[in-house]
Amino acid sequence: MKVLIIGSGGREHALVWKIAQNPKVEKLYCAPGNGGISELAECVPIGSEEIDRLLDFARKEKIDLTVTGPEAPLTLGIVDRFEEAGLPIFGPRKEAAILEGSKQFTKDFLKRHDIPTAAYGCFQDAQTAIDYIREQGAPIVVKADGLAAGKGVFVAQSVEEAVAAVRTVMEEKKFGNAGKTVVVEECLVGEEASFMVFSDGKTVVPMVSSQDHKQVFDGDTGPNTGGMGAYSPAPVIRGRTAEIMEKIMIPTIRGMADEGRPFQGVLYAGLMMTDTGPQVLEFNVRFGDPEAQPILFRLKTDLIEIMEATREKRLHECRIEWSEDAAVCVVLASGGYPGTYEKGKVITGLSNLPATPDLFVFHAGTQNKGGNILTAGGRVLGVTASGHDLATALGRAYDAVHRIDFPGKHFRTDIGQKGLNRNNH
Ligand code: AMP
Ligand code: GLY
Repeated sequence: MKVLIIGSGGREHALVWKIAQNPKVEKLYCAPGNGGISELAECVPIGSEEIDRLLDFARKEKIDLTVTGPEAPLTLGIVDRFEEAGLPIFGPRKEAAILEGSKQFTKDFLKRHDIPTAAYGCFQDAQTAIDYIREQGAPIVVKADGLAAGKGVFVAQSVEEAVAAVRTVMEEKKFGNAGKTVVVEECLVGEEASFMVFSDGKTVVPMVSSQDHKQVFDGDTGPNTGGMGAYSPAPVIRGRTAEIMEKIMIPTIRGMADEGRPFQGVLYAGLMMTDTGPQVLEFNVRFGDPEAQPILFRLKTDLIEIMEATREKRLHECRIEWSEDAAVCVVLASGGYPGTYEKGKVITGLSNLPATPDLFVFHAGTQNKGGNILTAGGRVLGVTASGHDLATALGRAYDAVHRIDFPGKHFRTDIGQKGLNRNNH
């Protein structure tokens, strides 16, 4: 079969790597892909939001399955377009992708279905939002309603900071139309975790747990990024899977079906584990990046088989198996990220890493130029390793991290530390 993966990051490299292991796959394409992906798939120079061109390509090449990595094409309705053209594609339709596309929709939905989430208000007008903030006090969280590439959330420690965030979003319109509405929410306290499921609209199958590291510097300091590293399983979720499924994931899938928005694909809940239980911070309608890297490392079942069962609404027939090992991904980023950074730096050390199944370097922002691998983005590589426990996996990953180099290389040295602390107590 012929498979097309859409996207160009570490998550997409992990998807390509996993899907390439299926013997039925004769040809793999990735649009647009990156320097690492080009070793496993043919990279096609089409951007992930160029839906007409992607559709033409899939039609011409008779693609048997298309898989979308990032959220933007999903919220733009790529699944609807492919399905109308009779082309098989994995992921939620536009009406269901709204769980990531609109925070206001999601907050109202959670409230309607009694699913735990922070108290909130939604505002179309800056002054009303500011009045509400003054009434509630700080700390308080201000979010742009729409997609803002993970940058539209402000956790404000003071009323002044929150007011400034409202002005940035609504008056300076820093995120364009995504900021026409703001959501202002109660600030939750606890440890965060990522929880993903596969769903065919009816059956809901949990994946193993994981935890991201959103901030750029050690100790969760500095600005938020797309994610500086992840590991699985996340001890903060240990023994809580049934509770999360019953209170959050199953009611969400059922509620969406009841509202005529059946969700088929990967649903990702960003959770805050508070003293009163898990609460939803956000939903994503696709695999997390970098969570996908350790999670797919642990997935024993064939991914194509799961995706086809999801599409064909027979997920109940699928037995999904996971490795008992722990897995971890440490992101190497360009100096300056998530602010401005330089590109085109030569990456060294990739070719003399130990060739073992428990280590793989997924590329995120790289380019293969005449055999040299150059940096081409903020997040550059995701060094991923597994081991019989978290400490072993971390040891393997950081050993490789120190062998790879490029000018400006930046990484966090404390990926998985929260998990180690919990394991030791
Ligand atoms: P989101 O994109 O909505 O997940 O928000 C990005 C980050 O902001 C989250 O990963 C949290 O670290 C933080 N955050 C979002 N909402 C809240 C909240 N209600 N309370 C505390 N922190 C939050
Ligand atoms: N790692 C967070 C995300 O994929 O949105």
